[in-house]
Amino acid sequence: MRVTVARVGQLGDGIVQAEGGTIYAPGLLPGEVAEGDLDGTTLTNLRILTPSVHRVRPPCAHARTCGGCLMQHADDGFVARWKEGIVRGALEGQGLEAPMLPSVTSPPRSRRRATLTGRKTKSGVLLGFHARGSDTVVPIPQCQLLHPDLIAGLPALESLVRLGATRTQEVQLTLTRSLDGADVQVTGGKPLDGASRMDLARLAEAQGLARLTWSGETVALRAHPRQRMGRAQVTPPPGAFLQATEEGEAALVQGVLAALGPARRVADLFAGCGTFALPLAERAEVHAVEGEAAMVQALERAARAAVGLKRVSAETRDLFRRPLEPDELAGFDAVVMDPPRAGAEAQTEVLARARVPVIAYVSCNPASFARDARVLVAAGYALDWVQMVDQFRWSAHVELVARFTFAKAGPARGM
Ligand SMILES: C[S@@+](CC[C@H](N)C(=O)[O-])C[C@H]1O[C@@H](n2cnc3c(N)ncnc32)[C@H](O)[C@@H]1O
Repeated sequence: MRVTVARVGQLGDGIVQAEGGTIYAPGLLPGEVAEGDLDGTTLTNLRILTPSVHRVRPPCAHARTCGGCLMQHADDGFVARWKEGIVRGALEGQGLEAPMLPSVTSPPRSRRRATLTGRKTKSGVLLGFHARGSDTVVPIPQCQLLHPDLIAGLPALESLVRLGATRTQEVQLTLTRSLDGADVQVTGGKPLDGASRMDLARLAEAQGLARLTWSGETVALRAHPRQRMGRAQVTPPPGAFLQATEEGEAALVQGVLAALGPARRVADLFAGCGTFALPLAERAEVHAVEGEAAMVQALERAARAAVGLKRVSAETRDLFRRPLEPDELAGFDAVVMDPPRAGAEAQTEVLARARVPVIAYVSCNPASFARDARVLVAAGYALDWVQMVDQFRWSAHVELVARFTFAKAGPARGM
């Protein structure tokens, strides 16, 4: 059948509006004319007859086999506009619109953390990403996403797979670049005993790993794997959340600083290890709130050791169950909020009543962001702008920072 693609859907497939309903054309771009065979609602064996001007040759040698990247066939400008469209669509769904600041996309080869899958085979080991929708593990030695330091760490991961995986059991290996070398976390591997602990410690030494954690147990700590956050240096606990690229983190911090302006007392909610709290503390007093105690401890330790920061306090607290209440928010002139994908429904309800003058909202999920934005706008906040920060280039993942300011003349609200 011959089709013309109308648009690209949220998961990266070309969408065709046919008489019988929606047809999905994987890997196609808007305006492209193609022929293919219909399998259910998906077109297969696609032959492109008229390519889009935004079509480019995928820069990665693994693009055909690896499931890691969806959009390598489109130029950067197209991908940025597509992702902005996803944000706009989510806002429109809640009856909202907002000016969009220019997107910032992290460059290729900048991911500082990746989780790979490893498995033993008859002849050796397989290490890589899963192929799209499949159990097959695809090796990715020329991956265009990962920072060269992560690529350089792949042989060490292969050695770990050799030691700790089986032919039937996959292991997940999270490799993080730090100031002190590779920080590696392995889950799903064989249970540890005395001999394997020794083997793993020797391997960490031989491969120069800063830290090696196996099923939650730190089996080697040659150096505390530090991350720079402003002028502070943090050692995150194993597996702790970290922004995916340094460039993305810098853009998000810039966005948050621009949103907050001259705020003097800031609450940083869902603070992690201090990505925003620590750079912010160079100009404002910060109270950081985070659900994971180990991350709060890492943040506090880093704040104490850093020179020249304003006062930093921190609190471990479940903000879904126990959001900061209006009386606790009263002393702050701004809030930074960077919740997980679920968003921050409970905290947003309280913020809507508390009327903190400025909110910088960082989100990795346009749907929950738009839902929370609607609550704030209904309470009299203005959504001043939204900026996309794309740390996951070539994927369907969307990340953004937005500024809300309380408009004093807004509608009355129930307390
Ligand atoms: C998207 S991360 C952002 C972390 C940090 N702002 C950063 O940029 O590195 C979300 C954070 O929210 C924390 N979190 C998840 N659920 C939470 C909850 N119910 N209460 C408080 N914090 C929570 C996670 O541990 C994680 O650190």
